Amino acid sequence: MGSVTASLGDLPLRDDLRGLTPYGAPQAPLPVALNVNENTHPVPDEVASDILDDIAVALREVNRYPDREFTSLREAFADYLGHGLEPGQIWAGNGSNEVLQHIMQAFGGPGRTVFGFAPTYSMYPLIAQGTGAQWVAGQREADYTITAEEAAAQVEQADPDIVMLCSPNNPTGTPLRLDVVEAVYEAARGIVVVDEAYQEFAPRDASSALTLLDGRPRLAVSRTMSKAFAFAGARVGYLAADPAFIDALRLVRLPYHLSALTQAAAVAALRNADTMLGMVDEIVEQRDRITATLEALGYQPHESWSNFVLFGGVADPRATFEALYARGVLIRDVGIPHHLRVTAGTEAETTAFLDALASIDSGA
Ligand SMILES: Cc1ncc(COP(=O)(O)O)c(C=O)c1O
Repeated sequence: MGSVTASLGDLPLRDDLRGLTPYGAPQAPLPVALNVNENTHPVPDEVASDILDDIAVALREVNRYPDREFTSLREAFADYLGHGLEPGQIWAGNGSNEVLQHIMQAFGGPGRTVFGFAPTYSMYPLIAQGTGAQWVAGQREADYTITAEEAAAQVEQADPDIVMLCSPNNPTGTPLRLDVVEAVYEAARGIVVVDEAYQEFAPRDASSALTLLDGRPRLAVSRTMSKAFAFAGARVGYLAADPAFIDALRLVRLPYHLSALTQAAAVAALRNADTMLGMVDEIVEQRDRITATLEALGYQPHESWSNFVLFGGVADPRATFEALYARGVLIRDVGIPHHLRVTAGTEAETTAFLDALASIDSGA
């Protein structure tokens, strides 16, 4: 093959994709990586070997296609979620990003619109645009909250085909009250998705939108194993909705989209849910420590129900990001003026971040 390479502009790319930028959170090999809201605790050894046993069994049959309906996994998710959910109400994919993509392929697409309250998860516009749908950004209050009345008014005005509600919201950590979900559902003619990727980090008595599914066939609640379950590398996300909603997703998924190895690993991890989720309390403790220390350092952390903290009062986010980077700590500039976002790590990682930030504060 010759050395001539084309640039993207030379290729017959879809017009609506021209000029877009792909998702690109840095994957730098720094000692303290607190930039993509992973669970930084490794899978405990005893769980890892239990998962490995199940993968070994599945491996002996990988000459065959996997169970297209991932029956055991759907049963395991229904059990884990509770709320009287049946396996027929569960869907799963390779990360909740894929689950969200299935929703947007089924209910979005060319000529349709997807609406969310900005700032919110950066993949919503990208997934929407990937299906040919148009992203429409609504607004939040200055503290990133939304009232039920305001949310319903904006949704009524925009009249979208899909509404994305991120609860708690990424990148701000803001909780979303269920009265907002109810009001948006009433105001919307289309699909309403509540993305509860970080729900396990919310206060124990906080209600999930799963409690609202009954009698709301246009509502879906998505979750992921990437955060609380410390399973980001395995790529497993899921949702609960009406069985008819699940049927719509079957129309767009690729056959056998969840590999036998993924299904085996996820079922085994769910069998060990108590141990896998054992780190959640510790992460919440580190998150609250970050908030308290940031306040003491003179920054303005926003209330967070997730495993990360968005903080304001940063004079020059790029400079602070780079100073932390030079000290081996990777956090995230999410593009909000005078703000940065940091994931709660282990106690040692969190200390490394806070010490590095304090040293910049006084010395840079
Ligand atoms: C709000 C939200 N939803 C969904 C995802 C996607 O997670 P995954 O595809 O790993 O399940 C993320 C990842 O950061 C997220 O922050």
